[in-house]
Amino acid sequence: MSCRGLIQIRCENIGTLYFVNLDPEAMPLRDYLGPVARTLDDMSPDKLILVDSASIDVACNVKVMIDAFLEVYHLKSIHQNTVDKFLDHRGSAITLWPGGHSRMVTPFKREGWKDPGVKGLPMVEGVDPWYEGTNLSVMGYPNMVSPVSPHGIPILLFWPKTLDTMTVDVHWFGPDWGDGPRPDRWDMRIANFHAILEEDLQFADKIQTSVQSAGLRGFPLNYQERRIYHWHEELDRRIGAARIPDGLGVKQILEDFIDLPGQGPADARERGRSTAESVLS
Ligand SMILES: [Fe+2]
Repeated sequence: MSCRGLIQIRCENIGTLYFVNLDPEAMPLRDYLGPVARTLDDMSPDKLILVDSASIDVACNVKVMIDAFLEVYHLKSIHQNTVDKFLDHRGSAITLWPGGHSRMVTPFKREGWKDPGVKGLPMVEGVDPWYEGTNLSVMGYPNMVSPVSPHGIPILLFWPKTLDTMTVDVHWFGPDWGDGPRPDRWDMRIANFHAILEEDLQFADKIQTSVQSAGLRGFPLNYQERRIYHWHEELDRRIGAARIPDGLGVKQILEDFIDLPGQGPADARERGRSTAESVLS
């Protein structure tokens, strides 16, 4: 066994969320995830249990799907009859974190609006009710997206399969209901989530066709879509500029807009410094 046993793998956890890493030299999970780990900490992860798991195969490159979960600009075109009814995409506030991680907070259209889908679902003990008053989603680079909620969190994982196919795993975590079968309320909650997910997936194969078209001249991204740009900048940094063929890399332009823990974005820090300097002078 000591000579021919299975290899050891790294396994670390945030509460009941377990992360496996095949690289024995990788940095500790919490150091890697940084502010994403702290957001998950706010969800009382010790008290969460696995509620449901599903895998969906999609006919597109994994990046096409990841891009789709990093902005809310698409609510008006994709989710007119669902999410767009209650989320105001114009009010989304974005934080870019080091390492490609990011966060997006999107306000409800009506103050005090409560998601009818969570009616009857208990809150996770210890989670600040503030989280119920808004919509917050984090990206843990490179492939984890979680729209957190005090009633439980779905963890979406995006896995590449081939150049033009990928898999989305959806793992739902919620408060422990004790003994007995899963409460029926969860069926509706999960079904609603998957209906919205279907809306996100419906054009994936068509977008993939566009991506592979000789007519493609790139995609314009607006300011509200800067989490996408941030993600792709990080990918290029990891690949290394020297290894990226001409015309395929993105220009590194967002460095000054990345929030450092406790210090805010570089441009704001710069403004703060010049204000302090002018006050001094
Ligand atoms: Fe969407």
